[in-house]
Amino acid sequence: MAVSTRRPGSMMVIANVSMFLALVVSGPIAVEAARAFFVFGDSLVDSGNNNYLVTTARADSPPYGIDFPSRRPTGRFSNGEAIGNEESPLPYLSPELRGRRLLNGANFASAGIGILNDTGFQFVNIIRMYQQLAYFQQYQQRVSRLIGIPRTQRLVRQSLVLITVGGNDFVNNYFLVPYSARSRQYSLPHYVRLLISEYKKILMRLHSLGVGRVLVTGAGPLGCAPAELARSSSSSGRCSAELQRAAALYDPQLTQMINALNRKIGKTVFIAANTNQMQIDFLTTPRRFGFITSKVACCGQGPYNGMGLCTVLSNLCRNRELYVFWDAFHPSEKANRIIVRHILTGTTKYMNPMNLSSALAL
Ligand SMILES: *[C@@H]1O[C@H](CO)[C@@H](O)[C@H](O)[C@H]1NC(C)=O
Ligand SMILES: *[C@@H]1O[C@H](CO)[C@@H](O)[C@H](O)[C@H]1NC(C)=O
Repeated sequence: MAVSTRRPGSMMVIANVSMFLALVVSGPIAVEAARAFFVFGDSLVDSGNNNYLVTTARADSPPYGIDFPSRRPTGRFSNGEAIGNEESPLPYLSPELRGRRLLNGANFASAGIGILNDTGFQFVNIIRMYQQLAYFQQYQQRVSRLIGIPRTQRLVRQSLVLITVGGNDFVNNYFLVPYSARSRQYSLPHYVRLLISEYKKILMRLHSLGVGRVLVTGAGPLGCAPAELARSSSSSGRCSAELQRAAALYDPQLTQMINALNRKIGKTVFIAANTNQMQIDFLTTPRRFGFITSKVACCGQGPYNGMGLCTVLSNLCRNRELYVFWDAFHPSEKANRIIVRHILTGTTKYMNPMNLSSALAL
């Protein structure tokens, strides 16, 4: 799969979330008629840019899409309803992203990339962070030709940006192989500090390009997907310890860095979503959210249904609403909806310094 040869799934939590966010951003909570939405980072989003570059894993056969109105696979890594293309920003490389469609935003994300340039080196032709930012500049030039510079600046300032990057710097770099180059060069705490300082430069660059609101997601539940539980095969059902340790070091420092940036700018530009805490809730109290398990995937085979892919031959649960995970890597539609609800209206336990609806109302 394109996201990772070893642990493909952990980053896709956010990929599906971005589709739901697209709906709410352009939907009822939007203050103005429409707010442009930009996505940066590593998310393997629906009809992602990587489709224009390399072959990615596809989700175009049953039982994917079983809960769509059509009950047919659509290419999305999900069981259920997702967002139509008109709400979801188009991939920047899509030939259909032109003319007035540009005004809705764009998706610059590319599966496999990281904060560091050497992350995802095993994939050719992915759009690294600095290139995504260069495309964003180019985007603004194209929009300026359409509606002029002042209106373009306003569109960018009033937009919402989602950025999700960092997971691959662990999964597809530091922990990719035992004794990886980076792990010989840095202890984990030092490596985390390097990531945070490089990430800070990326966020400052985004701000200098004129954006006003940036939702930043943490590394989150790197080690708890059914695929990880199946791999560890200790049958204890515990999350991967190395990945959990990485996330535990990384997430608080990310929040600190974001708070420091906001103080420096003098405004709340950056908002951090504590996806790790959301996942911990699912893991410790699945029933509180109406789930019967946060470990076993609805579709798959082997321990925790965490081995291999979800196909017509897999075990398939009856009621998808009862499972946190749809397949070995991807949360169910219901889990995604809960995550998005936290992002929008959650307390400071989940959102720092405030939730997205409060931030968008500022
Ligand atoms: C990544 O590579 C680009 C292009 O070579 C370079 O401009 C940029 O500074 C590099 N970033 C880091 C963090 O090394
Ligand atoms: C989050 O959002 C809700 C509703 O939009 C708001 O009432 C609440 O005060 C916010 N909570 C925090 C902690 O910011």
